[in-house]
Amino acid sequence: MFELTSLKIPLVGVTESAARACAPYIGSGKKDEGDGMAVDAMRSALNQIEMTGTIVIGEGAKDEAPMLYDGEAVGIGQGPQIDIAVDPIEGTNLFATDAPGSICTLAAAPAGTMYRPGACFYMDKQVYPRSARGRLDPQAPVPDRLKALADAVNKDLGDLKVFILDKPRHEQLVGEIYAVGAKVRLVSDGDVNGAVMAILNKGVDALFGIGGTPEGIVSACAARAMGAEMFGRMAPQKPDEVEACEAAGVDTHTWLGRDELIASNDILFLASGLTRGDYVNGVVMGRDANGHFITTDTVVIAGANGNVRSIRTTVHE
Ligand code: FBP
Repeated sequence: MFELTSLKIPLVGVTESAARACAPYIGSGKKDEGDGMAVDAMRSALNQIEMTGTIVIGEGAKDEAPMLYDGEAVGIGQGPQIDIAVDPIEGTNLFATDAPGSICTLAAAPAGTMYRPGACFYMDKQVYPRSARGRLDPQAPVPDRLKALADAVNKDLGDLKVFILDKPRHEQLVGEIYAVGAKVRLVSDGDVNGAVMAILNKGVDALFGIGGTPEGIVSACAARAMGAEMFGRMAPQKPDEVEACEAAGVDTHTWLGRDELIASNDILFLASGLTRGDYVNGVVMGRDANGHFITTDTVVIAGANGNVRSIRTTVHE
C-alpha cells in the first residue's frame, strides 16, 4: 500500500507557501484578500506535486469565500491517488484582526477514505485526547461525558477545560459544563485549533460544539493521526442548508465515529501558523543581512502513532 510519508515534505511546502502568501494581510482587516492569496498559493503549490489529488473538502462554499472547489483535481496528474481536505485560512476573522489561532491547514489520505459531507456545511463535534479513546459515549449527557473524560485524563472535574466556539447556539452547552464545575475556553473562531489543542493536550481537554464540516474532517484526520478520539454528527444550521440536507436524506441524528470520518491510518495533517497560537507559532516577517525574510512554523502529524513534527522554515525574498 502507498504510504503518504513521501508526500510529507511537498505538502509542508503547500501550507508554508500559503502562509507566506497571505502573511502581509495579517491584521489588515482584509480577510477575503488574504484568503484569496492563500487559496492561489495553495493551488499552485499543490499542482506541482507528483500525485493525482482530489480536493474532497474545500472551504468557502458556506461563506462564499475564495476557495479550492470540492472535486477539484490537483497535482500533476500522475502518482498516488489522494483525498485532500483544505482550509487555506482557518480563522479568517482571527487572521484579519491579528488575533491568536489562525492557521493554514491541510489533511491528506488515500483516495476514497475521507467522509463526504455533501450538502451539509455544519457538523456537531466532540474531540478528546488519546487517553479517552474508546471510553466515551457520544450520546451520553454532557455531565456523564465530562465525568468519563475526567477519569480518562486523570483530573478532577473542576480542572477540565473544554474549547467551545463562542456562538449563541452553544449557550446551553456552556451552561451544562459550568453546572458540573468544569471550565470553558470560549473563542470566537477556529475550531480546528480547538480540536488540535485537545488532541495535543495544549491547554484544553476536549472540543465540543457545532462548527464547519470541512474543519470537522480536517480535525478527524488530526485525531486519527494522533490516536485520539472524535465523533461528528451532521448539524445543518442555515435554512437553505437544512432544506438541502433534508432533500438529500442526510442523517442528522447519528454520531459518526472517528474512523467513519476518516477511514485510513495513512494520514497527514499539517498546520502552518498565521497568527500566534498554542501549539504552532505565527508567521514572522523581517529584514536581516540577506534581505527580507518570512519564517513559518508548521506542525505535521503523520500516520496513526502520534508522530508529531515541528518544522520551521525561513525564506528570503
Ligand atoms: P473561517 O476561517 O472559514 O472563517 O472559519 C472559522 C470558523 O470559526 C471555523 O473554525 C468553524 O468551524 C466555523 O467558522 C464556524 O462557522 P460559523 O462562524 O458560521 O458558526
